[in-house]
Amino acid sequence: MKISVIGCGYLGAVHAASMAELGHDVVGIDVDRLKVEALQQARAPFYEPGFEELLARSLGSGRLRFSVDMADARDAVLHFVCVGTPQKRGEYAADLRYVEAAAESLLEVLKPGDLVAGKSTVPVGTAARLAELVRGKVPGAMLAWNPEFLREGYAVQDTLHPDRLVYGLAPGDEGQAARALLDEVYATIVAAGTPQVVTDYATAEMVKTAANSFLATKISFINAMAELCEATGADVKQLADAIGHDDRIGRKFLNAGLGFGGGCLPKDIRAFMARAGELGADQALTFLREVDNINMRRRIRMVELAREVCDGSLLGKRVAVLGAAFKPDSDDIRDSPALNVAAQLQLQGAVVQVTDPAAGDNIRRSWPQLDVVDTAEEAAHRADAVLLLTEWKQYRDLDPVAFGSVVRQKRVLDGRNALDRDRWEAAGWSYRALGRRGG
Ligand code: UGA
Repeated sequence: MKISVIGCGYLGAVHAASMAELGHDVVGIDVDRLKVEALQQARAPFYEPGFEELLARSLGSGRLRFSVDMADARDAVLHFVCVGTPQKRGEYAADLRYVEAAAESLLEVLKPGDLVAGKSTVPVGTAARLAELVRGKVPGAMLAWNPEFLREGYAVQDTLHPDRLVYGLAPGDEGQAARALLDEVYATIVAAGTPQVVTDYATAEMVKTAANSFLATKISFINAMAELCEATGADVKQLADAIGHDDRIGRKFLNAGLGFGGGCLPKDIRAFMARAGELGADQALTFLREVDNINMRRRIRMVELAREVCDGSLLGKRVAVLGAAFKPDSDDIRDSPALNVAAQLQLQGAVVQVTDPAAGDNIRRSWPQLDVVDTAEEAAHRADAVLLLTEWKQYRDLDPVAFGSVVRQKRVLDGRNALDRDRWEAAGWSYRALGRRGG
């Protein structure tokens, strides 16, 4: 099938390469010439395990190319919209300018019978509005909403083997025709027995924001328990293990620590609240404000804890920050809790050395005031405290005995509850973590 993918960021680039892998003839369109050139040369503009190999394979098959020219989408019958919907500056609402620009320029190339399939995360009501626009300008062209649930770090796997397919369709014949095209493009995934939810536009849009809000709530729930554990001397990790054994609750997304960040969860819960307000249903989502507050409080608590272990003052103390991406296996530093903490520590007078296996270049570009070094050992050289803020495997696997010879003071703060406490304490470290009693 001939398809176009509009917007070649994280979602679009992975989607384009994955669709080519499934046998389709794909053109990826983006306004960013540098990004298009990089992708065309099989260079991934971001760190994502397995993606560069997939990109090289798909380009090599001749079924994938990238372009800055929307006219190259003219032959396609299915057009996936994968542009970003960031938070508006100074507001909670989502900024839809890229979605609107993509739709406007698509109108120039759409033909009757073509399907526009939106994958971007949008406020409920957007699809209906865009569908009017598409049908008004190109009679016979169709629109569907087909949200994407990929996780950074697992983007390739999540795209090729999603846990569900959600189709938000127009009623009647248009919806049936759109469904047939989506089933055709996802034939391999459908044949694998992947559950499908076929619904209306509004439900499909809400599935995505509801899913991210649920995940954010789950993380903030356990972090609220961590606050209580800190007040009572209980242990949040054991608490999470114990409640997680109940399969109605489940252990996933109950890792207490510095909380959620990234380009999705924080802005999605805020955009959801803003949209609920516009719809006169703000009360339904006021709890998300608390979810957001709990999350942000963890960052403040981490800075306090660092000050506590540095004998009450951060002034002149050398602090090593291990991990700066918003989560492991990603170089994404958007709304990264780790960087937020690192910057606070520095503002309060600490001498901060940050290291991350993948995000170094991004930090140097966006946070030039922070010192970035290449290895955990360099970061921890003569440190008064070591903070694990993003739980990359190489940091979880550090040998506390050898690592202890690098620092000035063997004090470790485990911001992700990811280290083996007993091992670190046995090697003479004082161990502190959010939601767990001090050693
Ligand atoms: C999230 C969703 O998980 C995806 O399903 C969704 O498609 C995506 O947003 C999106 O909207 O595009 P992602 O942002 O890649 O994916 O990251 P998550 O794995 O959800 O992690 C989010 C944050 O929560 C990270 O900062 C992570 O460190 C934190 N987290 C996660 C915790 O603090 N505790 C946990 O137990 C789990």
